[in-house]
Amino acid sequence: FIGSLAPDANQRALAFLEIDLSPIQPGQSVRFVFRGNALFVRRRTPPELERERSVALADLKDPATDQSRVTAGKDEWLIVVGVCTHLGCVPIENRGDYGGWFCPCHGSHYDASGRIRRGPAPTNLVVPRFAFLSDTRVRVG
Ligand code: FES
Repeated sequence: FIGSLAPDANQRALAFLEIDLSPIQPGQSVRFVFRGNALFVRRRTPPELERERSVALADLKDPATDQSRVTAGKDEWLIVVGVCTHLGCVPIENRGDYGGWFCPCHGSHYDASGRIRRGPAPTNLVVPRFAFLSDTRVRVG
């Protein structure tokens, strides 16, 4: 009976997503699907990192440091759920006025930290639970 309560292999596969980061180039944002939603994995360049870290928290609608949204020592990697926090559209990578994502549904602009910078979205793109398994592999979920 207890065995029947344990998640089967298909359920476990849905619960986690393992991503090989090695093909992702600096400056590139790659879209995956995780639990039925878009998931963005972005490898940020040093100038992008510098730009995001120089933003004053007072200028942010949903204040969060860039450091709070990434893993220390793996700062180039940003992982966010690709669902606009306004009404749930999928933002477009590398568009908008802040070098991150642009949601075409009602005009929300996100920066390269996934933070809302302008438009109707109330909060930043969600950072899912994730953990690095090695320098080139990450598990989301
Ligand atoms: Fe993205 Fe409205 S759903 S701006």
